[in-house]
Amino acid sequence: MHIHPEFHRFLSRTDKEHLLGQRGIVVWLCGLSGSGKSTIANAAERVLHQQGRFTTILDGDNLRSGLNSDLGFTDHDRLENIRRFTEVAKILVSQGVITFVSAITPRGELRDLARGILGEDLFEVYVKASYKTCEQRDVKGLYAKAARGEIQHFTGKDGSFEPPHNPDLVLDTESTTIEDAAFELLEAIRERITSGATL
Ligand code: ADX
Repeated sequence: MHIHPEFHRFLSRTDKEHLLGQRGIVVWLCGLSGSGKSTIANAAERVLHQQGRFTTILDGDNLRSGLNSDLGFTDHDRLENIRRFTEVAKILVSQGVITFVSAITPRGELRDLARGILGEDLFEVYVKASYKTCEQRDVKGLYAKAARGEIQHFTGKDGSFEPPHNPDLVLDTESTTIEDAAFELLEAIRERITSGATL
C-alpha cells in the first residue's frame, strides 16, 4: 500500500500534554444499555472540567448518529463500531485529551480489540447493572420495544453480553449513586491524569 504515515515531524503527545498540564487517558465505560455509562461519564467530565481538565465524551448513540450512522447491531457492525471508537480515541489521547468512551462493547473480542490498539492508555470500567434493572429503568423505552420483539440483536436479549473478566474498575449502579460512582472513578484515574514532574 502506498501509505506513508507522518508522525515524527508532527508535534508530539508530550508537547500537547505540556500545554494542557495533564496526561491523556481513555476511560472506556462498557455495560448494558441503561446501566449508567453516559450518566457517569457526564458527571465525571463535569467535575474534571471544573478542575481545568480538557475532556471529551465519545458516546454510542451520538457516534451512531454521525460517524457510525452506517452501522447496525450485528456482530460485524459492532466490531466496526468499536474499531472506529478506538481509532478516534487513539487520536484524542495522543493529543493529551481525557477521553471517555460510553459504548456497550458487549463482547470480550471487542474489548480486546480496543486494548490491542490503545494498550496502557485504556482504563476499562464495567458499569454493572442487571438486564432486569435496566429493563425497569428503561430510560429510552428500548427494553419495552425489545420485549415486544421490535428490536433485533438487542443486547442482553438476543444479542449477547459478556461481562468483562478483568476490568480496571467495576461500578455497580444498583448499589451506588451516580455521584458516588463518578467520585470513585475520578479517584481511580487521578494519578494517571495529574500533572507529573515533567508537566
Ligand atoms: S455497541 O454494542 O456497538 O457498543 P453502542 O454503545 O454503540 O453499542 O450503541 C448502543 C445504543 O444504541 C444503545 O444505548 C441504544 O440506545 C441503541 N440501540 C439501538 N438498537 C440497539 C440494540 N439492538 N442493542 C443495543 N442497543 C441498541
